[in-house]
Amino acid sequence: MNTLVISSSPNNDGLTAACAQAAMEGLKAGGAEVERVSLNQLDIGKCQACDRGWGTCKTKHRCQVQDDFQALHERACKADALVLVTPVYWHEMSESAKAFTDRLRRCEGNRGEESGLYNHPMLMVAAAGGSGNGMITCLASMERWIDHVKGRKFDLIPVNRWTRDYKLVTIRAAGEALAGLQAEMYVGRL
Ligand SMILES: Cc1cc2nc3c(=O)[nH]c(=O)nc-3n(C[C@H](O)[C@H](O)[C@H](O)COP(=O)(O)O)c2cc1C
Repeated sequence: MNTLVISSSPNNDGLTAACAQAAMEGLKAGGAEVERVSLNQLDIGKCQACDRGWGTCKTKHRCQVQDDFQALHERACKADALVLVTPVYWHEMSESAKAFTDRLRRCEGNRGEESGLYNHPMLMVAAAGGSGNGMITCLASMERWIDHVKGRKFDLIPVNRWTRDYKLVTIRAAGEALAGLQAEMYVGRL
């Protein structure tokens, strides 16, 4: 069982990193294999809206803008489950998370049950370290994204600096439960 944990903060020791670490610990405790990716260490540019709106994302389900997106697209689809942890910027996902999810949605979002992410359980975490405003707006956007790529919502967790301690415990528990869900799915019991 393989889970990809994607984080999208430039800070290696901030709230986002702590949430990603908690998810990884829980996943591992639940028996999952875990890979971690930091989007800010990759070269993933924004969607170019090729050919007046749609490019090969629509026709071939591949992005024609060549950078680190292609490899991560493949890894995300191969993973049994996804965890995406973003800092809340301007009540939204961070720019690196937006760039990646926008392009992934274009490739997989118009494929119905053929989506490479179809039914993949997803755990989303929005880490708001400032005012605490915008956690829910951010998660609402992440929820829409899951709907568009036909993933399965496992959980959407908001965290801010006041809730940090107990939410890290929650995120770890969510990771462990997600690993258990994967095992159930893998043997076809769900
Ligand atoms: C450009 C920018 C916009 C931000 N917007 C918000 C916001 O809307 N709401 C909020 O609570 N915090 C906001 N913050 C604070 C971040 O959510 C906070 O710094 C968070 O801890 C970032 O995660 P990190 O610890 O991994 O860096 C913003 C930070 C930046 C840099």
